[in-house]
Order: sequence, then structure tokens, then C-alpha cells
Amino acid sequence: MRDKIREDKFSLTSISLFYIFISFQYCAAIDVIAQTQNLLEGETLVSPSEIFELGFFRPNGSTNQYIGIWHKNIRVRKIIWVANRENPIAVSHFSASLSIGEDGNLKILDGKQTIIWSTHVDIGINKTVALLLDNGNFVLKYNDSGVLLWESFHFPGNTLIADILLSVNSKTGEGKFLTSWKSEDDPSIGDFTNGLAPSMPTQCYLWKSLKPYWRSGVWNGVNFIGVDGAIPSYFGKCSVTYTNENAAMSLYGDNNIILVLEANGSLRKLRWDENSMEWIVLFEIIPSSCQVYGTCGAFGICDPKRSPICNCLEGFEPESREQWSRGNYSGGCVRRVRLNCVANSSSGSSLAKHKKDGFWKVGGVKLPDFPLVLDLEDEKQCQDWCLNNCSCWAYTYAYELRCMFWTTDLVDIQKFTVSGMDLFLRLAHSELDVAEDKKKTPVILIVCIISEFITVGCLVYGFFRWKKKNQRVARKEIRKALELEDSGVEGRGNGVWHPTPFEFNTIVLATDNFSVTNKLGQGGFGIVYKGKLIDGQEVAVKRLSNTSGQGREEFMNEIILISKLQHRNLVKLLGYCIEGDEKLLIYEHMPNKSLDTFLFAEGKWSFGSLWSSFVPWRPLAYLFLLAKVMLSCILGYMSPEYAMGGIFSEKTDVFSFGVLLLEIVSGKKNTSPRFYEQSLNLVGYAWHLWNEGRILELMDQELVHSFCKSEVLRCIHVGLLCVQNYSKDRPKMSVVVLMLSSETDRPQPKEPAFAFEKPLEHDQHAVTSRLSSQNNSTWSDLEAR
Ligand SMILES: *[C@@H]1O[C@H](CO)[C@@H](O)[C@H](O)[C@H]1NC(C)=O
Ligand SMILES: *[C@@H]1O[C@H](CO)[C@@H](O)[C@H](O)[C@H]1NC(C)=O
Repeated sequence: MRDKIREDKFSLTSISLFYIFISFQYCAAIDVIAQTQNLLEGETLVSPSEIFELGFFRPNGSTNQYIGIWHKNIRVRKIIWVANRENPIAVSHFSASLSIGEDGNLKILDGKQTIIWSTHVDIGINKTVALLLDNGNFVLKYNDSGVLLWESFHFPGNTLIADILLSVNSKTGEGKFLTSWKSEDDPSIGDFTNGLAPSMPTQCYLWKSLKPYWRSGVWNGVNFIGVDGAIPSYFGKCSVTYTNENAAMSLYGDNNIILVLEANGSLRKLRWDENSMEWIVLFEIIPSSCQVYGTCGAFGICDPKRSPICNCLEGFEPESREQWSRGNYSGGCVRRVRLNCVANSSSGSSLAKHKKDGFWKVGGVKLPDFPLVLDLEDEKQCQDWCLNNCSCWAYTYAYELRCMFWTTDLVDIQKFTVSGMDLFLRLAHSELDVAEDKKKTPVILIVCIISEFITVGCLVYGFFRWKKKNQRVARKEIRKALELEDSGVEGRGNGVWHPTPFEFNTIVLATDNFSVTNKLGQGGFGIVYKGKLIDGQEVAVKRLSNTSGQGREEFMNEIILISKLQHRNLVKLLGYCIEGDEKLLIYEHMPNKSLDTFLFAEGKWSFGSLWSSFVPWRPLAYLFLLAKVMLSCILGYMSPEYAMGGIFSEKTDVFSFGVLLLEIVSGKKNTSPRFYEQSLNLVGYAWHLWNEGRILELMDQELVHSFCKSEVLRCIHVGLLCVQNYSKDRPKMSVVVLMLSSETDRPQPKEPAFAFEKPLEHDQHAVTSRLSSQNNSTWSDLEAR
């Protein structure tokens, strides 16, 4: 075959270009590079069993040319290694070649015979050959003895395949790491690095600009223990071995599994699927929120389900309360009470007059960075050892790793949803008492909250009586309406739409057993999957996590609430499923990915990203549903007539939406009173600013440099219209959408509810609207029909 190509080349001039192209495609495969055998453009070097292939390539859209390795028989090509990453062959210097030079080294020469890249090994003689092995290793070796002189596996790129070892030397810190490409079309070394850290026991890190960006937790012999168990085990098919001073990590499995460090810093494990002819993502780490290394600073703990996500460990307080409240957690936390036992203290290790320090258990966490280990028999020994060594600030006993302890600031602790380890934190004796007391507070807290509610309820009730003499009449009317509504829900014939119960197995089938590839997103409440029912209907399945805290009854209430809110512009709840611990909600599928992402995003909502996802109707509907279902239970979002009388109408939703809109623009919570002097809440504050003509001051400071004044004004204006005290003054949702999506005439807003000391007035209109909607299947759709 090789001879055939040579012949073609000798008679180049007489052959059509088309034929050259064909011959390159079909014949130009060689199996060795030697003194007499160069690799030219259009040719490839193929491994003996035709698994891997090496040749010239150009990344998508790039005009630069590189030499790289890819799977020969995988249609969607992933470049797994690039020789001349930093030195592309420029477009004007094509007709390059890969050859073996006089000194025996491999080198790439461009069209001008300039050396672009070389293996730079000290060899001396030129009796060398280069081969591509079946495991993807490109090697240079002595022709006679077969001794390896250079191999590509010692210089990993952005991709790990089965036989590559990512190693590190614990003494020198030297090792082999994956390095990301700069961008999709530029293989030169980018910002991200991945590999093992030299500290022992070892951990896998992702570094961004050489600073820790994410870490896996230590290797316990089977797994990396710092990867949340909620995520299918990325490292399941991975192993770490120790030899002398070295630790090495490798992926095992077949050639069709690769681990790629993408240019954006995400680490993805992919498998080529022959049936679907695509790369399937087995696992992906895209560090965000708590996964980002050290998000909460020293002695902070990050819990993605809490707001704010950062808190100080028990016995610690923010180093700077001011910075902390601004969301700047970098300063971390400091100890409230000095330890009894102080390391390096000149007067001995313990201040005798105080009681001994003790340990406080922090359960279910990703253990902090920089652990040390001691081979102690059991937990008791570990605890004793830690207690008696004043440098020891925390310990954990893990069966596989024995006694782990920490002598430095505790950083990068994360609360896990599923797995996680228990950390025992050293605290002064007095702090332990405080912590114990705090543990008991929930009961007290609940009692307090309930009594507070009762007190507030009584006050409001009394106030109402005093303010409105004809209150009693109205109250009767409300009660009547409530009864009517209840009978409407029970009696199925009344047009109230009911979701269908689904079998769990049906959903397992539809979502391919909750396959990761079907995952649409994840929120605090659980994971959302895409699915396809047997009849072909696409659905989105919300699988509530067991830790969502929702009981069966609350779940049923949610279903009833959502079904009562069925609206043609809302995402439609098709059904639900309760079996054992499983609680699932089945919605019609909304294919707009950006919205899903937005819906399930956990961080702060930014106005810009939200706004960009506003296309008329549906996103508003999302927001609308979100405002209703997730937030209606918070007093701050309730319209006065709902909060006081339980009157639920289309205008109630409008009110909630208005509050949400103002919160989004201002970046502040309605119920957070500390910013405002004269008024009760955000709504009142907004009204105050509006009247003073300073309404733009309401805007989130983060938006100041990137906002469109008219859009912000429009949002605030519409928001104020939505929260007007009388529900009859509030615009209908259809009008709200119209006003948001275009510049239209807007009436002047009247005074909102809950502002200043203005008393709440009972609202006759809501009752009527509520009564009139009894015969309709939807609450908020009346005008639209
Ligand atoms: C964050 O807080 C630390 C101290 O806690 C301070 O040094 C740093 O300047 C703050 N950063 C910003 C952006 O305010
Ligand atoms: C405490 O532990 C540290 C870290 O292992 C060690 O260097 C030190 O010698 C220990 N101190 C005592 C008193 O055991």
C-alpha cells in the first residue's frame, strides 16, 4: 500500500486533484515513522489494530494546523492528544511533515522546513522509529533494542484515556497533569489543570490559573470521599496507586471511555455509544457555588440548600460581619472563645483553671482540605490523641484511612445532601454548652414562631374589627366562598382539572431509570429529568429528594394547589406519583433549555440573565408559577386579601408577581427590613422612592453598570401597579405581560399594600372575582377566554 502512495506522489502532476484527495482518504495510512518514512499532510499513522490514528488536523474553524491523535473508528472525532499544542503550523506554511531527524528525534517541519516541534531527547544516533500503539501511546524507540526513548503518555493533553497515568511526586510536587485547551479551536494550554496533589493521602484537584478550584477529597482506597454521593460515582472506574513517593491516578475501562478537561474548566467523563453514535456524558463536574474551592473561607461551611450558602462552623463567627453580610466570605470565620489548650503556649499546653476542650460533631460533610493521617486503632484513640495535642483542631475516624486530623485552618467544608463524613471540631468547653443549647432551640423556636403568629393574627384581627364596622358581613361572604370552593374541589365534575396518578414503573421507563443523560436540572428540592411516555409525550419529571422535607400530606397539598392553578400559560402538571419514599411530579416538557437552567439555578438571580430569558408568555408563566407555588407561603409575597382572609384570586397572583418583580430589580428581599427607615418593607420603600422621584435608586447595585433605564423603569412601574392595595386596581396578568413586553401607556400606581402605617382595607372586588370564577376550570384565565 505504501508503495502505491509513493507512485502516486511521483506522478503528481499528471493526476487530478480529485484523485489525490481520494488516495489520501483511502490509502495514506502508514504504521511506522522511520528515517526513510515521513508522515506527510493527508497521511495518517495508524495503530496495529486500527484503534487509534495520528495525523494532521485543524480544530473547528481554526486556520492553524496541528498533529494529533484520535480514535480511528469513532465518527465524532475527539482529539485526545496534540503534539505541537503551542506551535501550530500556520496556514501559509502548509505541506508540513513529521519525520525523524539526524539526531534520532521526532520533529515537525513546516513547509519552509522550520522545526515547529521536536521530542528533544538526548539520543545521539539516528536508529530510531516512531509507532502509535493500540492503547493510544505514541512512542519513539530504538529500532534494534526496542527501548523507549519518548512517549506521548508522559505528556498528557486535556484527555485521560485508560493507560495514561496522572502521577505526582509527594516530595518534589512534580507530576503529570491534564491541561485544558485555551478554547475549542485552540489547543494551546488554557487556564485549567487537573491531577493529583502531592499532599498525602492524595486528592484529585482542579486548578484554575494554578489556584485550587475544586477538589475530590482524599482517596480512601476505593473512592475519593469528597464527591457528593448524590452524584453517580465519577471515580467509580478510576484507581489510585502509591509507589514510593509517587501517587498515580488512572482511568480503567475500555478505549471508548475518556475523561476530558474542557476549555471552560468542566471535567467530563464520556463514553462513545456505538448505537446512538454519540458521546454520552457519564459524569460532569462544573464547579459552582459550594463546589468551588474554599467558597466560605476558613472555618466556614457551605450548604447549597441554605441561603446564604455560607455559615460559620459552630463556635465560630465571621471575621468581618460587614463583609460577610455583603456576601464576601473570603475572610472566613474566627473562634469566638479561645481554646483552653493552646499550641506553643510557653506555660504548658493547658490552662488548668478552665475545663478541658471538647469536640463538636459536624455531620455529613466534605472533610476540610489538608488532612493528616495517623494509623490508630479506633475512634477513641484518635479522639484522645487529638485532645492531647494542642495543634489538633479537628479529627475524623474513617475505617479505611484511620485517624485523620487537621492542624491548619479548616477550609473547603461542604454540607452534603446524601453521603458525607462526620467531622469532630475542637471547641472550648463553654462553647460546647452553647452549642448543646442551640440544638434544643428548634422546639423553643417553633413555639415562639407559633405564638408570634397567634399574636400577630390577634392584632390584625382586632385591628380589622376596629377599622371596619361592616367586617362581619364581608367575613360571612368569604366563608361562603370558601365553602363553595371546597365543594368545587371535592366534586370533580365542577371543571376543576385533576392530575393523573402515575405508576412508578412507568416513570422509570420514561426516564430510562432516571438516567443522568436525561437530567434537565437540579434544585434544592430534587432533580428534574426529561422523559418520554409510551404514547410519545415528552414530560419533565421532578423527583423530590427525600431531604426536601416534604411529607406526603404537603406533597398532596402541592399537587392540589398546582392543579387549581392550571393555566394555559403555565407549565402543565400532568400527574404525580407516590410510591414508598418516591414522590414525583410529572409536568409537560418545556424544551427551552435556557429556561430550565434559569428555573433550577441556585445562585442569585441576576436581572440580566432573567431578562434575557423573557420571551412573552411562557417565562412569565414560569415565574408566575414559581412565585405562586414556591413563595406564596411566605408572608411577604401574599396579597393582603389572601393573607387576611384566604381569598385567592387571579389578582392574588398578580400581587405576588409584583413583589417578585421588585425583588428582582432591587436584588433585595421584600421581607428584609434592615435597609429601610420609614417604611415596613421593600414595597413600601419602592413607593417612597417613587413618590420622591428617586425610583432608580431601588435598582440592584450590581446592575448599575449594565442596565437599560427604560426597561428597569418599566419593570418597577409594572411591579408597583401589581402590588396596589386594592386588587381591583391591579392589572390583569395578560395586561402585565403586555406592559412588560412593550412600551405601552401605564397608569400611575396607587398606594401599595403594606406600605407605611396605612391600614389594610377589606377588598370586596376579590370576593366577587372569586365567586365568579367558581364555574371555571381555571382561576386566572377568565378574561382571556
Ligand atoms: C473581602 O473581605 C476581606 C476581609 O474580610 C477584604 O480583605 C477584601 O478586600 C474584601 N473584598 C472585597 C471585594 O470587598
Ligand atoms: C502534635 O501533632 C503535630 C502534628 O502531627 C506534631 O508535629 C506534634 O509533635 C504533636 N505534638 C505533641 C505534643 O504530640
